[in-house]
Amino acid sequence: MTRQLRAAGIWGTGMAVPERVLTNADLEKMVDTSDEWITTRTGIKERRIAADSQATSDLAAAAGRRALEAASVDAEEIDLVIVATVTPDVSFPATACLVQMQLEATNAATFDLSAGCSGFVYALDMAVRAVESGAYHRVLAIGADILSKITDWTDRSTCVLFGDGAGAAVIGPVSENRGLLGADLGATGAQGHLLTLPAGGSRKPVSEETVKAREHFIVMQGNEVFKFAVRIMGETAQNSLNKCGLSPDDIDVFVPHQANIRIIEAARKRLAIPKEKVFVNVQRYGNTSAASIPIALDEVVRSGKVKDDDIVALVGFGAGLTWASAILRWGR
Ligand code: UT7
Repeated sequence: MTRQLRAAGIWGTGMAVPERVLTNADLEKMVDTSDEWITTRTGIKERRIAADSQATSDLAAAAGRRALEAASVDAEEIDLVIVATVTPDVSFPATACLVQMQLEATNAATFDLSAGCSGFVYALDMAVRAVESGAYHRVLAIGADILSKITDWTDRSTCVLFGDGAGAAVIGPVSENRGLLGADLGATGAQGHLLTLPAGGSRKPVSEETVKAREHFIVMQGNEVFKFAVRIMGETAQNSLNKCGLSPDDIDVFVPHQANIRIIEAARKRLAIPKEKVFVNVQRYGNTSAASIPIALDEVVRSGKVKDDDIVALVGFGAGLTWASAILRWGR
């Protein structure tokens, strides 16, 4: 017997970023770089940096609270909280537990998910499947990261790229034909070493040696990740579109992972999407990892550019290496 699944989609979104702004001019004083290099190679002009006292769960809870407000849902109604992050407050308990506590979402199960910058789209897909099945009714999916605390501020090849933030969405049942239409998640674990935090886990616990070798900071082979990103953004978007019988022409709002304007532009060209349909805020926040797509989604939704029944495409890639894309028909 096959059971009928119900449609599920996004009821409301929210975001939060720290107050402190770090500009390219500030970075010029910290490492051997220039506003000109950063702007032409990445499109980034400034990024937000968390305060010493701020942890990932603080930003995640703030974004979650705004998503709950937008969705008109009370925290007690949430039955599952998923936090996508690579910068949990602590190894355990899960950041999702700390968010559940802050929001007083006392009826929610909780777990974290690690899929790098693809994390929010992974979380969204899991949330939708949970609601579609009828097992869960209101899920809070959050992408949140504070990469500034694992960034090597003496390494100009990475420290100019990242920023901190959180984005969230409440997922619930929606009318037939709306919500998530198709998604494509994947990974190539064999390329994981291209973007990693070498020390601090069970393979290499933190020690005096690992700290001296600066292995508690992000290590990235930027060029290789760049090549992967340019190829995978178009491929995964096309895979998701194929799953729901749509083509790139059907996309009304394209929300790519905000890592680098050149990667976004390459993906846009491959899919032949007009510029005005692509949302870009990388110039203001840099690459906020798992928060990048939900922050962009929240900004484009609040700008009024997303109308009911619009086709919205979320497309990302990240540490893993992972990729993820999702096609939604907007509205409840
Ligand atoms: O969410 C996933 C996270 N990762 C990414 O999205 C990263 C994807 N990769 C990229 O976005 C690009 O590869 C970067 C922006 C990281 C680098 O751009 P690129 O065009 O690939 O530059 P490159 O690494 O080939 O470096 C070119 C030159 C090098 O100098 P030489 O060897 O040509 O003399 C670098 O040393 O630029 C130099 N360079 C810098 N110069 C000024 C590297 N970083 C900087 C810097 N300022 N911040």
